[in-house]
Amino acid sequence: MAGVRLVNVWKQFGDFTAVKDMNLQVKDGEFMILLGPSGCGKTTTLRMIAGLEEPTKGQIYIGDNLVADPEEGGFVPPKDRDIAMVFQSYALYPHMTVYDNIAFPLKLRKVPKQEIDQRVREVAEMLGLTELLKRKPRELSGGQRQRVALGRAIVRKPQAFLMDEPLSNLDAKLRVKMRAELKRLQKQLDVTTIYVTHDQVEAMTMGDRVAVINAGVLQQVGTPDEVYNKPANTFVAGFIGSPPMNFIDATLTPEGFVDFGDFRLKLLPGQFEVLEEENLVGREVIFGVRPEDIYDAMFAEVKIPGENMVTAEVDIVENLGSEKIAHLRVGGVVFLASLPSESKIREGQEIDVVFDLNKAHVFRKENGKAIF
Ligand SMILES: Nc1ncnc2c1ncn2[C@@H]1O[C@H](COP(=O)(O)OP(=O)(O)OP(=O)(O)O)[C@@H](O)[C@H]1O
Ligand SMILES: [Mg+2]
Repeated sequence: MAGVRLVNVWKQFGDFTAVKDMNLQVKDGEFMILLGPSGCGKTTTLRMIAGLEEPTKGQIYIGDNLVADPEEGGFVPPKDRDIAMVFQSYALYPHMTVYDNIAFPLKLRKVPKQEIDQRVREVAEMLGLTELLKRKPRELSGGQRQRVALGRAIVRKPQAFLMDEPLSNLDAKLRVKMRAELKRLQKQLDVTTIYVTHDQVEAMTMGDRVAVINAGVLQQVGTPDEVYNKPANTFVAGFIGSPPMNFIDATLTPEGFVDFGDFRLKLLPGQFEVLEEENLVGREVIFGVRPEDIYDAMFAEVKIPGENMVTAEVDIVENLGSEKIAHLRVGGVVFLASLPSESKIREGQEIDVVFDLNKAHVFRKENGKAIF
């Protein structure tokens, strides 16, 4: 196995730039997620790593091998890159049995028959397919087919796996199950894996690290914890988390408040110091706070400095069973709060809520970059 490295990689389709100056280092054995909205360049990036697409500029390394370097005319074709891909539409050979589908990559490589048999049975065991080896793809469920496709990818012990939304065709329940299985399998095989998804839950639950991409530009690379708790900018902050982070336009007052016009919140002393150092006092900023960091005052366990409690009007309540999503309003300022299911909140009434300033974020108005 081997790490994968992209150095200043660009991909142009005619006038359109699909990938802009991408620098990414995936460590040996790491499970790296490429996460971003539709059209942001995830598949294009993966296809360049696979060799199905040539970068316009930049270098791609698999282990120590330079596999793409357009300026120098270097290009290693897909079949010589020793990587395995799994796609969203996992095309199995319909006329072949499960056994033959899994064995196929080894037969292509003229692996001795006995070794093929051993490897196929090993992989089938690992994926719970042993009982199904004689079946044809049409006799399998969606999840079973997906596992056969995975089996075909892992039977070869490649340097790296590239997976493009492999679970998106499965129903919600099966997806949750496969998510856990795939993660376990990846750890067991210890093969570098690059996994594309636009599903933030998949990204957060499966990835060792997550690379967040928007409009062809890498926004941040970090552990799930880092991208959630320390987002680099408003894009990452807004893309990860559900319901998304609240962004409220604010002014920083010299007394240490974030002022929204209709109400204000007192910053922690350390936060204010950082903002002073950045010369942001008196300036407009974007204040960010996640819905789960706004509490119903009746249920807040922590002792709260008075300034951070606010009385809000309740516009809408969405009851999700495990929690209630409240659409709240203070004057002209609107925001969401995730409240406990026991919360007695009613539409049209008022509620006291507490902002947890320890979890708050401040972003630059001009470019969305996070100060904290
Ligand atoms: N062969 C091509 N010719 C022209 N434009 C292309 C080509 N392939 C991709 N694009 C464009 O490049 C951008 C990135 O495409 P890509 O398939 O990488 O997106 P993605 O992040 O995988 O999106 P999705 O989540 O919808 O699969 C899109 O705007 C797409 O239209
Ligand atoms: Mg795609």
